[in-house]
Amino acid sequence: MERLRHGREVGRLRNLGVVVNLEGPMGPVWRANSTPGGPGGGCRVMGLGSALPSTRVTNADLEGFLDTSDEWIVSRTGIRERRVAGPEENLLSLAARSARACLAAASVSPQEVDTIICSSSSPDETFPSLACRLQAELGCPLGPAFDIQAACSGAIYGLAMAQSLIQSGMSRRVLVVAAEIFSRLVDWSDRSTAVLFGDGAGAFLVGGPADPGSEILALELGADGRGAAALGTQAVSPDPQSLPGMPDYTSSQRSLGRVVTMNGREVFRFSTRILEQVVARLAQSAGMTTSEITLVVPHQANSRILATAAGRLNYPIERFVSNVERTGNTSSASIPLALAEGAAGGLCHDGDMVCLVAFGAGLTWGGLLLRWGSMGVAVDDPRGPA
Ligand code: UT7
Repeated sequence: MERLRHGREVGRLRNLGVVVNLEGPMGPVWRANSTPGGPGGGCRVMGLGSALPSTRVTNADLEGFLDTSDEWIVSRTGIRERRVAGPEENLLSLAARSARACLAAASVSPQEVDTIICSSSSPDETFPSLACRLQAELGCPLGPAFDIQAACSGAIYGLAMAQSLIQSGMSRRVLVVAAEIFSRLVDWSDRSTAVLFGDGAGAFLVGGPADPGSEILALELGADGRGAAALGTQAVSPDPQSLPGMPDYTSSQRSLGRVVTMNGREVFRFSTRILEQVVARLAQSAGMTTSEITLVVPHQANSRILATAAGRLNYPIERFVSNVERTGNTSSASIPLALAEGAAGGLCHDGDMVCLVAFGAGLTWGGLLLRWGSMGVAVDDPRGPA
């Protein structure tokens, strides 16, 4: 793709499908259509996998040590429980489980994966990247492996990079893995953030136009760094606060040296607005109306955000796929997790128009429109189906 200039159409990129610039809501954005039958168009998502840790933390568990209530959490967020990684788990183990589930579902061996892109906002190492460690863990060939940081939009940014690499001819099969352990990044004594997040991982395998799977019809990426202060992390004090009754899983709190900080109201306003706008623009990019979108799989931040956006789009809430009630906000892992659970539960059918929309810290956003085609989906949840 080409960096687009503010508010101006820059035309067709010769080998990469169609790129048009539309004035973004707050600035320039990247947009791309796949050109059906065109030189690089129509990359396919060939497989999808997700993985959750087994430890379940309910709102009632949080009531045990935080000044909060199930009623407050459910009414403000829709979240009833979340998963947290156990002491024996780490980002790599979660990422590897989702990647293995994805590859098995797609019937593709690790040896056929030539590129790995990982996304995480809760990395356990500054370097080496999660992608490099995953490459070795899976036994993939020695192609490029790198991490990206686009916060909760990371999976969509990764899919967009995968499409670009395949369209340019640099890669053939790209594994995009988003993995998060926010339980090691939240301050468990801060009720305003601790109740929101959870752990999990999701993986997509992306192939070319000749591969089977769901076709990428349109995508959009954007960022507005002016909103960077709304959601981020800050260094922790040397003496983490320990509240009476704090259970074991909070002992890893602050183990990454930083904790999440957020201006919830500002993020809420941004999220509802961008979610509605991205769905509308993706539909327009693909030459359809928003009523032709079958399903929206939004970043699972909060059910009030989803309900507000669904209302603005005139959609019944059932058109929004959501598992936030059971997983909390798993940052960049949330879209593959929700999509995998929804698809495994029979929500997606051949020919459906499925719109993935992410938003998060940066502020970043990303959207991708898929024409659903038969593809393998696997959910690795030790607690079994929802
Ligand atoms: O990936 C993107 C991540 N971010 C998000 O999705 C967040 C988007 N924002 C939101 O969803 C909402 O802003 C929140 C759910 C985070 C907060 O809801 P709110 O309606 O904006 O609440 P607030 O922050 O204005 O707080 C209202 C009250 C405050 O008490 P006072 O000052 O009115 O007495 C808070 O101290 O609620 C209090 N409060 C809580 N009470 C019980 C904050 N957290 C809690 C809690 N339990 N966990």
